[in-house]
Amino acid sequence: MLTLTIDNRQVSVAPGTTVLEAARRLGIRIPTLCHVPGLEPVSSCFVCAVQIEGRRGFSPSCAMPAAEGMVVTTASTDIRKARKMALELLLSDHAGDCVSPCSATCPAGLDIAGFMEGIARRDVPGAMEVISRRLALPGALGRICPRLCEQQCRRLDYDQGLAIGALHRYVADEDGRAKQPYLPPKAAESGKTAAIVGAGPAGLAAAFYLVQMGHRVTVFDAKERAGGMLRYAIPAHRLPREALDAEIGVIEQLGVEFRMGQRWGRDFRLADLRKSHDAVFLAIGAQQAQELRCEGEELALPALEFLEMVAAGNPPAVGEDVVVIGGGNTAIDCARAAVRLKTRSVRVLYRRTRQEMPCLLSEADEAQVEGVEIEYLLAPVQLERNGNRQLSLTCQRMELGEPDASGRRRPVAVPGSEFAVRCSTVIAAIGQAVEHEVAERDGLRVTGWGIAADPRTMATNLEGVFAGGDAVLGADLAVRAVAAGRMAAVSMDQYLRGQAVTGEPALAAVNMKPMDDAERAVMFRAIEQSARVRMPEIDMARRRTTFDEVETGLPAEEAEREARRCLSCGCSKSDCCHVRGLASEYQADAFRYPGARRRFTQDLSHPEIVYEPGKCILCEACVRIAAEEGEEFGVAIVGRGFDVTVAAPFGKPIAEGLRKSARRCAEACPSAALALRSARTCGGCGMSLIAGPSIG
Ligand SMILES: Cc1cc2nc3c(=O)[nH]c(=O)nc-3n(C[C@H](O)[C@H](O)[C@H](O)COP(=O)(O)OP(=O)(O)OC[C@H]3O[C@@H](n4cnc5c(N)ncnc54)[C@H](O)[C@@H]3O)c2cc1C
Ligand code: SF4
Ligand code: SF4
Ligand code: SF4
Ligand code: FES
Repeated sequence: MLTLTIDNRQVSVAPGTTVLEAARRLGIRIPTLCHVPGLEPVSSCFVCAVQIEGRRGFSPSCAMPAAEGMVVTTASTDIRKARKMALELLLSDHAGDCVSPCSATCPAGLDIAGFMEGIARRDVPGAMEVISRRLALPGALGRICPRLCEQQCRRLDYDQGLAIGALHRYVADEDGRAKQPYLPPKAAESGKTAAIVGAGPAGLAAAFYLVQMGHRVTVFDAKERAGGMLRYAIPAHRLPREALDAEIGVIEQLGVEFRMGQRWGRDFRLADLRKSHDAVFLAIGAQQAQELRCEGEELALPALEFLEMVAAGNPPAVGEDVVVIGGGNTAIDCARAAVRLKTRSVRVLYRRTRQEMPCLLSEADEAQVEGVEIEYLLAPVQLERNGNRQLSLTCQRMELGEPDASGRRRPVAVPGSEFAVRCSTVIAAIGQAVEHEVAERDGLRVTGWGIAADPRTMATNLEGVFAGGDAVLGADLAVRAVAAGRMAAVSMDQYLRGQAVTGEPALAAVNMKPMDDAERAVMFRAIEQSARVRMPEIDMARRRTTFDEVETGLPAEEAEREARRCLSCGCSKSDCCHVRGLASEYQADAFRYPGARRRFTQDLSHPEIVYEPGKCILCEACVRIAAEEGEEFGVAIVGRGFDVTVAAPFGKPIAEGLRKSARRCAEACPSAALALRSARTCGGCGMSLIAGPSIG
């Protein structure tokens, strides 16, 4: 036996034992990638680097035999840097997408391919379970989200992108109609309490996840009912209240308590909540209407007031000719609501051009289809009463000048271009701001947008107080509010359990942007072209006279057909790839060493596995396993320089090289170069990056 010291602890091992094995005997974890227990080491990845006293630089512990009196260090800043660099080099030419481009773009990080798979299998509860892990209110969001994800769908390069929003709405609606809608499981009670101020999408999402984590959650809101802008602003023709009620009902069923009619600053102060609860989440949105800043503006109807009355089924008398000032979602919603109130003309006046409009352009298109006129480069100058029921709005023409702080070109007035517009009502819809006075009064730091909060943890300057959604970002999008609510829940859970508040662990990810034509040809070679599903709509007469929902939802067979169009992009081992796991743990920057990456290619010759050479890290695990299993041809490292990879000899397909050992190789492969076709995880090691990287 020989005795060596590792991290100041002595261990005696038999001759021939490696430093890695000796360390493991002491329970010391050294990361590995190319090491395969029982096989000869190749020491190609270098992530098992350690320092050995008397030796220069670093040594690969998997290949280094232990020696008498050896003194080994396995953890230091320098070792961490060396391992990080080894990982960054491995990722620098990696041809793969760890996460599908659609999921990477969804602010909530929804596993889109995952829930599509559920729909395609007709497993609505399964799809709902996948959705619920990352996205609260999927039915509401499926209706109103601008679908940032769809703009990145891979199929856009081939035929038409997937209808992702419509599909998660389909799952939520179907689930809601089921005898027993999906109810996520709850962790054991923690005995801790959380207060949430604001029952809009951000507050509801935080409540949804916090209650699942085992905490007692109480939501305080100034209004009578929960939902925030989704209930009090967005008209029912886009989001029927029953759909919203059903999703809020699930949150109530999980045990969240709602205390409505309670206004922060009037009915309670932050100090009260901090005394009565262990943590607080502030999600008061951006609810303060911005001023029109023109003479006579008091004659205009504020957009939120108008929309709230419409939502309550008690619309104001707006007369026949309505003018809406603004270019955001609020303006378009006001215009589309006004169309439904027996008006003769509805005009939207916007001071820039269509290109700069902050609303969803599809919404502007729908408004125009319903008869709304949108006029650009016009700004209000003066509003006057002109007779009993008439108003006169003086407008001025604008032209675009230099870009302003927002990057959009600044509208500049054209002198002498004023003209008057007669109308019965002017609705001012030029945006909302955060009411930050109440926050400042209670000791919170604020920014130009709203309450100041760390973008990763959502923590504010006050201990145990978190903030998110529009209250932090200023008027924004519901999906970002929902994402912020979930992120805040993760941080609050850490805080409530006395852990370091670090927020959700950031997972390393590479992507294949841009792909060239040859790569696209490989990706789409076995796929038939097919058109995107069309969302059915009610007829125009009903659209113009009722607040019935315009888009009626996909029938089951259409939804299933659409889900089957999904290519399941992203990596099949994204949840269990050891390279990604270590890159995340070592916070490796996948783009640290920019330059050409390898080409994306695929070998689909084997019925059980897929081989993607561009993801191979040349660990030779498969080479050694194939040799051990006595494969006739086996695989070997071939090629030179940049093109070096693993392949079967004589240009044979992988199916011939790995006739007997394909499954074992796919399970041992530390990246997704070799992956099983059947599962979205390799199944071999049981590692889950979602639970946090913990690979031995
Ligand atoms: C007309 C309109 C149309 C929109 N259309 C879209 C769209 O199509 N797609 C999209 O993604 N987004 C859209 N949005 C934006 C979206 O609604 C918001 O981004 C989202 O609602 C923000 O969620 P939140 O929870 O942060 O805030 P909010 O939804 O504003 O909720 C805040 C909650 O806090 C409560 N509250 C406020 N102050 C207090 C206080 N002092 N004490 C107690 N409670 C308080 C409010 O009553 C409210 O319930 C639209 C917004 C508007 C106004
Ligand atoms: S929430 Fe929006 S961005 Fe995310 S998947 Fe749904 S439609 Fe796409
Ligand atoms: S094909 Fe499916 S997985 Fe790929 S980008 Fe489109 S929706 Fe996402
Ligand atoms: S394909 Fe083989 S050599 Fe390449 S990473 Fe996977 S196991 Fe290692
Ligand atoms: S060099 Fe040791 S595990 Fe790769």
